[in-house]
Amino acid sequence: QTIYRKDYTPPAYLVDTVELGFDLDPETTIVASRLTMRRNPDSTEAGIELYGQNLKLVALRMNGATLREGDYRISSNVLRISKAPDQVTLEIETLTSPAQNTTLNGLYVSNGNFFTQCEAEGFRCITYFPDRPDVMAKYTVMLRADKQKYPVLLSNGNLVEAGDLPDGRHYAKWEDPFKKPSYLFALVAARLVCQEETFKLMDGRDALLQVWVEDGNLDKTDYAMQSLKNSIRWDEERFGLELDLDRFMIVAVSDFNMGAMENKGLNIFNTKFVLANSRVATDVDYAGIEAVVGHEYFHNWTGNRVTCRDWFQLSLKEGLTVFRDQEFSADMIGTDSGRAVTRIEQVRTLRQAQFPEDAGPMAHPVRPDSFVEINNFYTVTVYEKGAEVVRMYQTLLGRDGFRKGMDLYFKRHDEQAVECDDFRAAMADANGRDLAQFERWYSQAGTPVLTASGKYDARWLTFELTLSQSCPATPGQPDKLPFHIPVAVGLLGADGKDLPLTVGGKQHGGTAVLELTEASQVFRFTGVKEEPTPSILRDFSAPVVLNYPYTDDELLHLFSHDSDPVNRWEAGQRLAMERLLKLTAASAHGSKQELDDTFIEAMRKILVDESLDAAFRENALLLPSETMVAEQMEVVDPQAIHRARQFMRRVIGERLRADLHAQYDANLTPGDYSPDAISAGKRGLKNIALAYLSAAPDEHSDALARRQFDEAGNMTDRVAALVSLIHSESAGAALALEKFYDEFDNEALVIDKWFAMQAAAPGTDVAMVRSLMRHPAFTLKNPNRARSLLFNFANGNPAQFHAPDGSGYAYWAEQVMALDKLNPQVAARLARSMDRWRRYSPALQAQMKTALQKVAGAPKLSNDVTEVITKALSN
Ligand code: ARG
Ligand code: ZN
Repeated sequence: QTIYRKDYTPPAYLVDTVELGFDLDPETTIVASRLTMRRNPDSTEAGIELYGQNLKLVALRMNGATLREGDYRISSNVLRISKAPDQVTLEIETLTSPAQNTTLNGLYVSNGNFFTQCEAEGFRCITYFPDRPDVMAKYTVMLRADKQKYPVLLSNGNLVEAGDLPDGRHYAKWEDPFKKPSYLFALVAARLVCQEETFKLMDGRDALLQVWVEDGNLDKTDYAMQSLKNSIRWDEERFGLELDLDRFMIVAVSDFNMGAMENKGLNIFNTKFVLANSRVATDVDYAGIEAVVGHEYFHNWTGNRVTCRDWFQLSLKEGLTVFRDQEFSADMIGTDSGRAVTRIEQVRTLRQAQFPEDAGPMAHPVRPDSFVEINNFYTVTVYEKGAEVVRMYQTLLGRDGFRKGMDLYFKRHDEQAVECDDFRAAMADANGRDLAQFERWYSQAGTPVLTASGKYDARWLTFELTLSQSCPATPGQPDKLPFHIPVAVGLLGADGKDLPLTVGGKQHGGTAVLELTEASQVFRFTGVKEEPTPSILRDFSAPVVLNYPYTDDELLHLFSHDSDPVNRWEAGQRLAMERLLKLTAASAHGSKQELDDTFIEAMRKILVDESLDAAFRENALLLPSETMVAEQMEVVDPQAIHRARQFMRRVIGERLRADLHAQYDANLTPGDYSPDAISAGKRGLKNIALAYLSAAPDEHSDALARRQFDEAGNMTDRVAALVSLIHSESAGAALALEKFYDEFDNEALVIDKWFAMQAAAPGTDVAMVRSLMRHPAFTLKNPNRARSLLFNFANGNPAQFHAPDGSGYAYWAEQVMALDKLNPQVAARLARSMDRWRRYSPALQAQMKTALQKVAGAPKLSNDVTEVITKALSN
């Protein structure tokens, strides 16, 4: 049941209008649908095809006449009417059971309230429909439900009518003025309260903004509301894009598979990305809310007004919208150094999650060629690598050129369902550029490897930079063609300053964007007065692995001086990675671990350099993760990596103890909590200082962590202190965990943190995770809770998960199978934790294979999990 991009055909019928009537009841909801359809002139197919899943069909009428079996056929979730006139009105009545729906796909009940999730193919769980994104229609929705239980009735667009019905019921009628694909449909019927305000749009219109939450959470909606207003303003200013509705709603729900959903005018959010105040949310949570509120809002243009022709084009809206939310978050900080920190975090995400995906059995191009289950392709490749691809247009064309491309894209495609190629064509045409080769970023999977070497000629004052590229084979793609790679380069002089650049006769400032299009090219810089240190791939100008034979001295020079903060950070990461790999090898062989003074002193210099933002220093001090180290090894030894990294942390803690204490004191944030970047940066630096001190614990560091835990005025400091206590195995850890639980037992999102911290702690083994699962607050049914424990253990605690006895894998197999019975989408995510199994020692591999085969052999496995497991076993 693999679906291929090349098999796309246009729909046989188009839908102009949809009228939906809902009689909402948790056990049996009646859905009445009335579709006006017409034959698609662009199609050669004859009949009508509707999709439906887990529905009970009660009635089906075409142009007023009841259809009987024989007039239509239903097989494997497709309803076919083979003979139909050109103009059709279909009336369909179906039944569904939202309360039984544990998949959280389609119409479901969470905490007694009704919600929907229709992307990608959830609408077919609500009614029979040509549920594909290239069928766009205008919707009118009538909701009927018990008034006491469900006082709030919401759907897309504008409220046009509301009132009471007999038997204690009421109704609301909603109309969405814009055509939309079915995946953007949404309804909410619930007992909720809202924070609202009217907001003046650029053109003078007033828009009503609402954030809906459960009673008791109105003290946690301010930041989401502020982020929404900032998003609306930003899209007006940066892209000239306005809100096209009079009303924009955000609704928070605690049972949700993903982060949030951009349903037209009615965004539905995981509570994690809405609810915040200083008592319960960390700086990272606040940043997540800003980014996700922005992301969903920006989808209104990039996704909703212009949508995808088919699901292979998913990155058309997701890559672009992630890029937009990244730019939004960067602009909200406003300073260059603040922007750079957001960029560093993006690079870290790519290396932590996307590069491994690109190198594993699920590797796929940004625009996949095939899938079994589309929900498995909401990936870091489609989202984050997709955003990198969009960013490269901006790097190649400049900000203004990119804006011109965006303007043309909307001019050409408003209210259409289009392809990634259409976006590329708009960028090319608006700028008079040939971007044909750039297409390979969409079609070829795998992370390109950029190999660079430099040669300085003191007689001719030239510096020759040779750039070569290659890309490893990925499943189904043995050979790759060269990519069009923007490589931003600077040359540092001995004084650490950027040398002025002339390359190919053209002058640049301190940074030149070279365009590598061949397998190998030489770029000659002229007028180079001294032998430079090259700073290559500035601002991470392309999602590639860079190999350059840097010496320690060159890296130290870059780490101290590079004017590009991303590469300055990168130099530190390289210094650390080299050492981590050596320490890991030493640890594996049981030989002595040693860390050189040069490295320690480089770290000290950054730590105490008060001319640098605290947030930058925090990032520079943060070592590559155990996962990133693992990605560098041919045969991964999780325990040796862990020991090496812990050793490095402890030595830094010991050797920099006095400076760490001083920076801790210098970066306190007294007074009222504020999530702004400067304050968050100070907390980040202070808390990484605490983490290093706790990695080399003595009575002072322990007292410091305990005091911070007791006295902290915000969740960021609370969590940091608790993590330090847990990781240093402080005698105070158990009591602190207990206190934390008791204080927040009413705050589900905080209890998630309580599980997550324990799951990721180096001291937590499989047996402890099993016992945490027996805690009364644990449930597999809530995705946030399941992720907090299972995912944080499987992905965030590699040394324990990969226990040599294979107990982690057996546990993983059990949980994937248990979750699959409830919620295949979440189960398939957990299944991905085994992606890199072929990189481990033969002994571990054998045990991982056993676990994979166990899951593969489970009865009634979902498509979602089957696809992930099959690919892991066959690639
Ligand atoms: N379009 C949503 C977003 O990126 C994601 C929804 C995905 N949901 C799913 N079940 N695949 O904001
Ligand atoms: Zn999105």
